[in-house]
Amino acid sequence: MNRNTIYDLFLKPLFFRLSPENAHQLSHGLLELGDKIPFFFPTLQALTTYESSRLESKVLGLSFKNPLGMAAGFDKTGELYPFLSRLGFGHVEIGTVTGEAQAGNPQPRLFRYPKVNALINRMGFNNPGAEQMARTLHSQKKSIIRGINAGKTKLVNIEYSAKDYAKSFHLLQKYSDYGVINISSPNTPGLRSLQTRETYKKLINDIKSELGEDFKIPILVKFAPDLTETELIDNLEETVNLNLSGVILTNTTLDKSSLGIDNPEEGGLSGRPLKEKANHFTKIAFQHLKGKLPIIGVGGIESGKDALERIQSGASLVQIYTGYIYKGPFLPYDICKTIDDYLKSNNKTSISEIIGEKV
Ligand SMILES: Cc1cc2nc3c(=O)[nH]c(=O)nc-3n(C[C@H](O)[C@H](O)[C@H](O)COP(=O)(O)O)c2cc1C
Repeated sequence: MNRNTIYDLFLKPLFFRLSPENAHQLSHGLLELGDKIPFFFPTLQALTTYESSRLESKVLGLSFKNPLGMAAGFDKTGELYPFLSRLGFGHVEIGTVTGEAQAGNPQPRLFRYPKVNALINRMGFNNPGAEQMARTLHSQKKSIIRGINAGKTKLVNIEYSAKDYAKSFHLLQKYSDYGVINISSPNTPGLRSLQTRETYKKLINDIKSELGEDFKIPILVKFAPDLTETELIDNLEETVNLNLSGVILTNTTLDKSSLGIDNPEEGGLSGRPLKEKANHFTKIAFQHLKGKLPIIGVGGIESGKDALERIQSGASLVQIYTGYIYKGPFLPYDICKTIDDYLKSNNKTSISEIIGEKV
């Protein structure tokens, strides 16, 4: 029996019998329990982790042991980082955290579409707030690269967004290797309007002046796949001008036409139906950025082949969320091995040699 069969036959049917949020809670509980059982985690870590010096890279001035990260939204509190950091990832992006704690939207707010390995969510940034997250992270040992993804508190007026983002970054920078300004989640009213070129420029300048000179970690921005190509290119240009450190492409999409169903749930769509769009955006960004900024590619990656394609489209790093739900905990091993096999068989010594090679 191979490792993926264990997930497909035993764990996935159990998780998929529960509501998606209860399944998430259960997996958290199982990880906590497993951590108390001798040999459980070392064994799981060995089964999920693939190591190779070819996969190591320096991006954002940071050393990543492999190019795969857990995308924002899976660990909204920071409490899962100690587990995820031992499950084959090279980095974990926690959050979205907001300046103030908030409950998010009423449940149900997360829905599976298993025929196409997709999810729709309208979580609405449920999170404990930056102060509580700082306490959580303070009690942890940091191992692999940890990013902090920050959003805007729903009750904070859009004009005061910069202060809210800056509050999270101030409180959390000492626990983070990089920060992300999330202006692309579809479930906070008005948030995506911050992607409009002039508003975007003002927001970033305001956040920067709130943060001051002492703020040192690289800051990236995460965009939506629902921008037009012109809007994307405008924003990329602005991102370079504003001296930000990189871009994350993409968040979930509001375009649910590819699901081919009447009345899909409200919220953002992720997983397989997002793959082509996110890959296309990565290619466009790579062509326009010309190496000036790194791209983190996310959206619909559910196999080693998908991850390799995203890197060849221009991503320096990739992330997964929905694919992890459908394919299970051994996906990081499969992704890293596929990329490494490709590098090996093409006589390449590092990931950097293949970034954007198919653009
Ligand atoms: C349930 C759920 C919650 C998410 N929450 C966040 C979030 O809080 N912040 C964020 O930037 N992205 C969030 N995302 C978006 C993911 O980080 C990712 O950009 C998107 O799902 C596309 O990747 P995927 O197809 O691999 O899931 C969330 C996605 C899902 C499915």
